[in-house]
Amino acid sequence: CMGNHYNIILIGATGDLAQKYLWRGLFDLFSQTYVKDKVQFLIYGCARKVPDEGRKLLSEILLNTIKCHDVECREMKKSFVESIQYHQLKTEAHYKDLDSKVSENTKGMYAMLDAEWTYEVGRLVYLSIPPSQYPKTVQLVHKHLRPRIARNVWMRIVLEKPFGEDLDSARDLAITLSQHFKEEEIFRIDHYLGKTVVKQILPFRYVSREAYEPLWNSHHVDRVEIVMKEKVDVKGRTAFYDEVGVIRDVMQNHLTEIFCLVAMELPVDSGNIAAILASKQRLLHQVEAVNEQSVLTAQYSSYHREFISETTSRESLRKTPTFAATLLKVNNARWKGTPFILMGGKKLEEKASYVRIVFKDNVMCMSATKPCGNMQKQLIFYIGGSDHRHAPMVIASDALPSFADRPGWKAQNLKLDLTYFGQSINETRQLIPEADDDAYTNLIQAVFEGERHLFVDTESLLASWQIWTNIIKMISETMPRIYHGLDVEPELLDFYLTNGGGLKFNVDQDVIRVDDPK
Ligand code: BG6
Repeated sequence: CMGNHYNIILIGATGDLAQKYLWRGLFDLFSQTYVKDKVQFLIYGCARKVPDEGRKLLSEILLNTIKCHDVECREMKKSFVESIQYHQLKTEAHYKDLDSKVSENTKGMYAMLDAEWTYEVGRLVYLSIPPSQYPKTVQLVHKHLRPRIARNVWMRIVLEKPFGEDLDSARDLAITLSQHFKEEEIFRIDHYLGKTVVKQILPFRYVSREAYEPLWNSHHVDRVEIVMKEKVDVKGRTAFYDEVGVIRDVMQNHLTEIFCLVAMELPVDSGNIAAILASKQRLLHQVEAVNEQSVLTAQYSSYHREFISETTSRESLRKTPTFAATLLKVNNARWKGTPFILMGGKKLEEKASYVRIVFKDNVMCMSATKPCGNMQKQLIFYIGGSDHRHAPMVIASDALPSFADRPGWKAQNLKLDLTYFGQSINETRQLIPEADDDAYTNLIQAVFEGERHLFVDTESLLASWQIWTNIIKMISETMPRIYHGLDVEPELLDFYLTNGGGLKFNVDQDVIRVDDPK
């Protein structure tokens, strides 16, 4: 109804993440919802800088980071920028001031519009700050920034990773949060959960249930590869990255989240968020903690040099892995025996993220028109990458069941002339998103919709740390192998899987190579 409004408080408004993604996401929300539902947003950009300096910096950031290509957008941008108020947030007194300002503005909204139809629907506080500041900040937010007017005004707090550095620290942080916020008020962001294709994994499984669910188990699936290859290195941020390493940086979070979407049981009702979260938690508790036999770590060859030049450290060797391949084993009836291979790394040959499900030969060939021969049957969720082969889409070998259509996606049978994983696939079924939306825009909107299954709940977070904490500790003393450009095409992973389920790589003169299997 007319006159509904939200208060949005972005703490860390001038920081890197805010500049790169958050203001754009808020702008998209502002322009779409503003037009569609006629709701109002009162937005506060907060940072530690004194008001004059902060205000100036913030308006420069807003003007530079939101790009417009038409008049309508430019006008929208103008009203967006004008609507944002800068507020200094450094001391407790600043929180009190902000509280008064928000209350005043909220009251102003009541006075301005027909009181019967006007109320604050929700209040979102986004923390885009270093995690070391979380404990103090959440306490002050709880104390000063909760909506005062009772009724049903929701309060949601959004946090960015890292959520701890191991199980104990993650638990400590979770306890601190729970002292001030209820579980349903906490929205931990994993930006991979906002990516178009990742968001599509569960809906795909639901819509294609009849065809694919009978195949979705260890009788029919040979292995699942969940891969995040990056071309970039960590130059310019080695001091930060050195504390983290690839497992903390992308495996405990992004790759584990994607794994859950692929492997969890489907609750009966696809709209039941609590049931989806419960199913995810159950799965995570069924995963064996990763051990030394199930991990391979490596470091790109110039890492150490970059680290030394960017820090004052004189240490002769850094042990931080920039690449890891690991095996997850799931102890449940559906997946017992199916390896889930998670792989992530920097400075590799290409940028590509995907989930690849490779089916066994016992999966019947679905194509009525031609024999399948020994064609490999695989279903791939391409999440994104640097070239058209890895653009967001779902793709399946022709031999597999066809896809159901759905809004926002185009299903098609395509003749392709492409080679995927060393195998030429010239006829496939594809599902292509009509728009590839920005992950942060999707997630900021999801906070408003209360779509909690697109965020990381406390129990899942701790269960995930349970899987990864030991191995992080174990490998911290091991020197990773060194690589110069690593060809990690998962086709080769077949040969890494050995009897014990471990991974085997061949190291030759400090360079990782994979031996020709023949
Ligand atoms: C972040 C990691 O979470 O994800 C970065 O901290 C990584 O190291 C980034 O580069 C990759 O995200 P995207 O969306 O570019 O694939």
